[in-house]
Amino acid sequence: MTTDPTDTSDATGAAEPLLPARGINHLALVCSDMAETVAFYEGLLGFPLVKTVELPAGMGQHFFFDIGGGDQLAFFWFPGAPAPVPGISAPAARPDIGDLVSAVGSMNHVAFDVPADQIDAIRTRLIEAGIECSELVYHDDSEWTVSKTLHEGCFVASVYFFGPDGVLLELASWTRDLRPDDVRHAPATAADAAAYLSAAAGG
Ligand SMILES: [Fe+2]
Repeated sequence: MTTDPTDTSDATGAAEPLLPARGINHLALVCSDMAETVAFYEGLLGFPLVKTVELPAGMGQHFFFDIGGGDQLAFFWFPGAPAPVPGISAPAARPDIGDLVSAVGSMNHVAFDVPADQIDAIRTRLIEAGIECSELVYHDDSEWTVSKTLHEGCFVASVYFFGPDGVLLELASWTRDLRPDDVRHAPATAADAAAYLSAAAGG
């Protein structure tokens, strides 16, 4: 038995991850109107409101919705919260329409996992409820990373729509298992930004 506190290897010598991955406990967002948020996430989407917290000293409220799989989506309502800034706090547009960029450290979008055989029907029900949705697209490894039709190179099916306060949401269904060759790009650094911006400008 080791006495080195930095040695996390088990009896077989395999290192245990520092953080064992077991899902998202909760993702906390900020809303401008908790009643509107409850009406959308519980009333329309059907995520049960399972916990409400009244914050002390007039700070506001913190509500939790059960989004399945043991995961929760939480919202803060702060009475003095700054207004959303499209393109900074969240994308200014759905990715099929405009710019997906949002600020460093922002919550860009959250994708709810849905069964692959139901994603189109859920999209139709959202549209019937008055929610504007993207087309159903399949992400693949082509240059533009999307396909309108499902082929064996696709890995996830997606539909994008906005919730209250410009929060970008997605319905997502994996279309195949991920493989070792799905990880093949070197991670960019801040030093790569200029070359990427030049390429994006057509340079
Ligand atoms: Fe996504």
